[in-house]
Amino acid sequence: QFWHVTDLHLDPTYHITDDHTKVCSSSKGANASNPGPFGDVLCDAPYQLILSAFDFIKNSGEEASFMIWTGDSPPHVPVPELSTDSVIKVIANMTATIRSFFPHLQVFPTLGNHDYWPQDQLPIATSQVYDAVANLWKAWLEDDALSTLRKGGFYSQKVPSNPNLRIISLNTNLYYGPNVVTLNKTDPANQFQWLENTLNNSQHNKEKVYIIAHVPVGYLPYSSGITAIRQYYNEKLVELFRRYSAVIAGQFYGHTHRDSIMVLSDGEGRPVSSLFVSPAITPVRNVLEKETNNPGIRLFQYKPRDYTLLDMSQYYLNLTEANLKGESDWKLEYALTQTYGVEDLRPRSLYRLVKQFAVLDSKQFIKYYNYFFVSYDSSVVCDKKCKALQICAIMNLDHTSYTDCLKRYL
Ligand SMILES: *[C@@H]1O[C@H](CO)[C@@H](O)[C@H](O)[C@H]1NC(C)=O
Ligand SMILES: *[C@@H]1O[C@H](CO)[C@@H](O)[C@H](O)[C@H]1NC(C)=O
Ligand SMILES: *[C@@H]1O[C@H](CO)[C@@H](O)[C@H](O)[C@H]1NC(C)=O
Ligand SMILES: *[C@@H]1O[C@H](CO)[C@@H](O)[C@H](O)[C@H]1NC(C)=O
Ligand SMILES: *[C@@H]1O[C@H](CO)[C@@H](O)[C@H](O)[C@H]1NC(C)=O
Ligand SMILES: [Zn+2]
Ligand SMILES: [Zn+2]
Repeated sequence: QFWHVTDLHLDPTYHITDDHTKVCSSSKGANASNPGPFGDVLCDAPYQLILSAFDFIKNSGEEASFMIWTGDSPPHVPVPELSTDSVIKVIANMTATIRSFFPHLQVFPTLGNHDYWPQDQLPIATSQVYDAVANLWKAWLEDDALSTLRKGGFYSQKVPSNPNLRIISLNTNLYYGPNVVTLNKTDPANQFQWLENTLNNSQHNKEKVYIIAHVPVGYLPYSSGITAIRQYYNEKLVELFRRYSAVIAGQFYGHTHRDSIMVLSDGEGRPVSSLFVSPAITPVRNVLEKETNNPGIRLFQYKPRDYTLLDMSQYYLNLTEANLKGESDWKLEYALTQTYGVEDLRPRSLYRLVKQFAVLDSKQFIKYYNYFFVSYDSSVVCDKKCKALQICAIMNLDHTSYTDCLKRYL
């Protein structure tokens, strides 16, 4: 088993006070809505919320071989309120916090678009932040990994307890739209070339690979025709993932703060890769948004010999309830195979499930859409257009098939 945690977004300014505009700087001057010890939906995570998540993991009784941590530690605040130093400090704090809970656990981290200052502008050559995280993550990563991390913010490393399993940690922030450093660059930091070499080597060495990264490939499930990374890079990544789908046993992302899946198909429409976007620990939403997510963390089960993904358990904190009671009661939200009645998490199993989602008034899809927000609001409804966007984003990661899908459903 392994844990996946993401988008911690610590807000060190969070504190309870009568003036609700002053509860946290991440509310950006808005009144916090109902602030309590474990946070508020207009604020990023108080330290106590993050502690409660790791405390739950530690006392869960579950034995895990490793943990993946897909980035975004600093709060959502205006650029002038942070600095290179303060961003490094938050990442150092989260690293030390995780180490203090799990001194012997192997952790595979990735950088998020907020793990840089100014945010999103992750560079294509060595930088103070890459250097700092390479030093901070020495306890987890080997020299080869640290060396590419220093140069481009990405690395690959074998999982110590699992001899034929390799983690490839990509810096997809280089492909993120707001990153102006990489505008017009065909292969920023030569990451594509490195990725292809790494996958090819894994194929020759009969390894399996888990891809981890912050910003996901594919289309955003809540908007029309927008890829999470720039479209040009998306096409390139999707092509590589198809070519090496026999090597890639799973893909794990964060960034959207929502719980979603994607199924990559090959040129003939056969499902070849399963992708999982994990919800955030931070519950933050924008003042203008209606919905957000409850804090979530997840545990994956895999087959030891071939690293096939067998199941995933999604845990969550009911933030309203935790604040009311003044204690954090992290609970199982769902186990994927059990809640949907599927066999395992292999591409063809998920593909069959998504076919069920597509049916009119599908109960399976209503469940999926409630889990999308980590059970934040079970009354939320997804109308015809909303559902078409969700289904097309789950099933189609490249431009041609996605546009065809929208034409069929809309
Ligand atoms: C991390 O930050 C929190 C909140 O600001 C603070 O209470 C805690 O002492 C820090 N921990 C470390 C290890 O820096
Ligand atoms: C915050 O709430 C107070 C008290 O209800 C109100 O007077 C103030 O205008 C609110 N501020 C904002 C920015 O909404
Ligand atoms: C990128 O290419 C476009 C089109 O060729 C050009 O208009 C733009 O100025 C270029 N941007 C940068 C930052 O080089
Ligand atoms: C893949 O690796 C093999 C053996 O290491 C090598 O001969 C081949 O050229 C590589 N192919 C690509 C596309 O890099
Ligand atoms: C979360 O807690 C609130 C307050 O107790 C409750 O109204 C709500 O139904 C709970 N949500 C879930 C998904 O259990
Ligand atoms: Zn985030
Ligand atoms: Zn992000």
